[in-house]
Amino acid sequence: MDLLNTVEYDDEAKVTAVIGAQWGDEGKGKLIDLLSESADVVCRCQGGNNANHTIVNKNGTYSFHLLPTGIFYPHCLSIIGNGVVLHIPSLIEELESDTVREMGSLKDRFLISDKAHIVFDFHQQVDGLQEVDGCFQKIGTTKKGIGPTYSSKVRRNGMRMVDLIGDYSYFSDKFRGLVNLYERMFPNLSVDIDGELEKYRQYADILRPYITETVYSINKCIKEGKKIFVEGANAALLDIDFGTYPFVTSSNCSIGGVSTGLGIPPTKIENVIGVMKAYTTRRGDGPFPTELHDGVLEYLQVKGQEFNSTTNRWLRCGWLDLFAIKYSDMINCYNVFALSKLDVLDDLVEIKIGISYTLRGRKLDHFPSNASDLSSVAVEYMTLPGWQCSTKTVKLYEELPSNAKTFIEVIQNRVGKPIRWISVGEDKESMIVMR
Ligand code: GTP
Repeated sequence: MDLLNTVEYDDEAKVTAVIGAQWGDEGKGKLIDLLSESADVVCRCQGGNNANHTIVNKNGTYSFHLLPTGIFYPHCLSIIGNGVVLHIPSLIEELESDTVREMGSLKDRFLISDKAHIVFDFHQQVDGLQEVDGCFQKIGTTKKGIGPTYSSKVRRNGMRMVDLIGDYSYFSDKFRGLVNLYERMFPNLSVDIDGELEKYRQYADILRPYITETVYSINKCIKEGKKIFVEGANAALLDIDFGTYPFVTSSNCSIGGVSTGLGIPPTKIENVIGVMKAYTTRRGDGPFPTELHDGVLEYLQVKGQEFNSTTNRWLRCGWLDLFAIKYSDMINCYNVFALSKLDVLDDLVEIKIGISYTLRGRKLDHFPSNASDLSSVAVEYMTLPGWQCSTKTVKLYEELPSNAKTFIEVIQNRVGKPIRWISVGEDKESMIVMR
């Protein structure tokens, strides 16, 4: 199958979604930054400040948890959609950072959906309490309050940006009621209600210029033929419905979340890009069939800089898992993949790729729904020779070492989808683009 010549990616497409194909940290930030250069609109559709997109450009390294990457490009309209949950102090911190201030006024080029739900500090406290009090399954959350906020949303007592900029006495009453409810549920919770309400009154004034109804704005952009990129946060295997439940995040971070989190009709999404790291990593707890526990683990952690500075812990690392990737592809139907961090494999003598799972002696034909089954699978691997030289400065596919090309071809042939971008370093220039 000569997939390199059958790229089904439409450069002229109006709506393109970028989705993490594994368990997150695939390097979506770099690709989104690259694509944002030619975008008219860049949107976030789900998640909150539990995500972290890293952008390395000639001016330095930037890390955004909430702001869409389009913020870097003055020609771009950046939109935070209704599916995102917003911790307002964190958003204001990003808006008031030197990096963003230097970009000048964001008026008319940054919109926040009035339907987006608010992550309060007490949601974050509750996230922490749930992880330690023994009543709940510990899932290793980021304790950013994302899960408790989506819980409030589904319980229909959540509070939204539209409440913040409306009648403040209504906002205050609703906030008091919500805190009272949570204090009954979590007796150890303590909230300074009046102090919080005073802070939120000021936050409302700061954010009012950006908060608006965004579904009409986005659909107007689609109608006008604008080029729209949606930056997925988290990743498909962390999806609340399709991921490794309960070790997942609380939103739909696969393709469905693009429609529900922005109001973009599914039929308007023309390109779906899956970002896949050349190996696998996982934060937090949960099943991880190709996880490594030997010297290669340490090699990947150090060479790939797979370190979580928030928790001060190394990420779990393992071999690329194509059985999981195929499942992720089935849900998202990627047109193309971007393969990231190929350079991290540069020094390995041999490289393994997980290709199938066996459970209790039976070869599986589906990705297990049960976390304990997934933890018990035996993985069948393919072993390929490494290339043991640096790929960091390679600009053309033809210039890659032949063993690296074989690695890429095996992935394409087994998944049946082309790889369009191959990332070989942190910076924007370290990217091989297939034409
Ligand atoms: P989440 O949204 O939190 O899941 O993360 P993400 O997918 O946006 O990952 P991010 O863009 O933050 O990238 C993770 C790290 O990988 C960052 O430190 C990047 O600079 C780095 N990175 C991205 N691509 C490459 C690459 O090809 N090679 C190397 N060595 N590092 C890379």
